[in-house]
Parts: sequence; structure tokens; C-alpha cells
Amino acid sequence: MNTAKEPGSRHKKIERNVTLLAALTLVTVAIGGLVQITPLFYLDNTIEKVDGMRPYTPLEQAGRDIYVREGCYTCHSQMIRPFRDEVERYGHYSLAAESMYDHPFQWGSKRTGPDLARVGGRYSDEWHVQHLRNPQSLVPESIMPQYGFLADTELKVADPSAMLTALTRVGVPYSDRDIEMAETDIQAQADPDMDAGDLAERYPKAQIRDFDGNPDVVTEMDALLSYLQMLGTLVDVNSAAAQEELAEEKGR
Ligand code: HEC
Repeated sequence: MNTAKEPGSRHKKIERNVTLLAALTLVTVAIGGLVQITPLFYLDNTIEKVDGMRPYTPLEQAGRDIYVREGCYTCHSQMIRPFRDEVERYGHYSLAAESMYDHPFQWGSKRTGPDLARVGGRYSDEWHVQHLRNPQSLVPESIMPQYGFLADTELKVADPSAMLTALTRVGVPYSDRDIEMAETDIQAQADPDMDAGDLAERYPKAQIRDFDGNPDVVTEMDALLSYLQMLGTLVDVNSAAAQEELAEEKGR
């Protein structure tokens, strides 16, 4: 039975006054929000840098643009989740830093085909060319479309320097020299007869070779393959530094 001075009387007041309830709810939610959001303003970067991650070479970036243009992301994700079945199938789970230079990111939300975050180096260039030309010739039950035309289409990037400049505007740290050399770099990465200059120094682990089996012309297939073969190969996830990052991440 309620006594005259019941303990919940103030609460009753709040519950019976909608305006007061709304105002106090707002205050409570705002405090929760501030606790979560304020620390982010004091961090320089919410993604911790990991050794090995670098901006994409202009050829890889062009390949990435083709990947986006062809809608590969509608069937393929690029995000290995930290679950045992995924890690056993695809390799170490994805680190935030591994997609830090992706604009827009390609995590994807649908896996009609396998995750591609660590597909780099898993197959030979010849396998990829054959698979993209005719997926069903390698995987008879595949429903992946055929992309043979990429090998017959010369790569055309309207203004490679502008492409990199645009990315610097959203925080990708291309140097002035990267921007100046963009056009040459595209050709040099896929043309075995060309002097690649300091491409490999500016872009460590860049794979420099003719990708599509046709050394005479740099095709869209070259660009796409340079991108696919790079995926997941930049960061050595088993290195000491990466392991340290992971331990820290877990402790948080
Ligand atoms: C309609 C859905 C669909 C689209 C679009 C699609 N794929 Fe696939 N992809 C698949 C399926 C299904 C498989 C698995 C069977 C196979 O290997 O063909 C696959 C397999 C692959 C594999 C082999 C992966 C592995 O680990 O075995 C690669 C690489 C690949 N796709 C790249 C691409 C690229 C690049 C594009 C865009 C140019 C693309 N795919 C577009 C459905 C798709």
C-alpha cells in the first residue's frame, strides 16, 4: 500500500508530465552521446596505422575504379570478419587500416561470390585472366558474369594526376612526385619493357609486370589484376607490429 510519503512520488511526477519526461530523456541521452562522441574529437585518427599500408599505385587505383564500375562489390565483399569459419577460409580477419585508403570503401554487404580482401597472390595472373574471361570454364557452376572485354579494352584514365590529387583531398597521402609521375607509373607498372624508375620505392611491394599476357598494350585487365593481386598483400598481419596493434585492439 502506498504511504503518504511514498518513495516513488518524484518519479511519478516525471512520468505524468510528458514535457518533463521528454526533456529529461533528452538530457539523459545527450550525456550518453557525449560520453561516446567527445573522446573522438581528441584522437588524431580513429584508425591506427599499421606497417605496410600505403596508398594504391595509379594502376591499382585505376583497377579499383574498374572494380567499382563493373559492380564487383555487388557480389563480393572485402571484409573478413573475426569468426573462425571466415578466418580459416579467407585468412586473417581484416584490419581497419587495410581499407584506410579506400574511397569509397569496398567492404560490401553481399557474398554471392567469395570474399576478396586477401585474394592477392592466391591465384596466378593466367588463372585470373581465364576466370574473368570465362568463369564457368574453371568453376562450371559459377554464376559470375564474363569480363573478357576488359582484356580487349585499352586502359584510359583521363587524367591520372587529377585522380591522385582528388584522393589527396580526402586524406590519401600521395606525394607531389607520385602525382607528377602518375601517368608514367600507370604504364611502367604493366609494361615489362619500360624502366619503372623509383615506382617500387615510392610504392613498396608494388607488383611490376605484364598482368594480362599481352605486353603490347596496357589494358583494363592489367589494371584490374594489379588491384586484385595486391589485395591483402600490403600488411604483414603476422608481423610483430601488427600483432601488437591487435593485442591493443583487443585490450580496448
Ligand atoms: C553475379 C555475381 C558476381 C559478380 C558481379 C562478380 N562475381 Fe566474382 N565470383 C562470383 C561467384 C559466384 C564466384 C565463385 C565461383 C567462381 O570462382 O567463379 C566468384 C569468384 C570470383 C573470384 C575467385 C575468388 C576465390 O577466392 O576463389 C574472383 C577473383 C572474382 N570472382 C573476381 C570478380 C571481379 C573482379 C568481378 C568484377 C569485375 C566479379 N568477380 C564480379 C560472383 C560474381
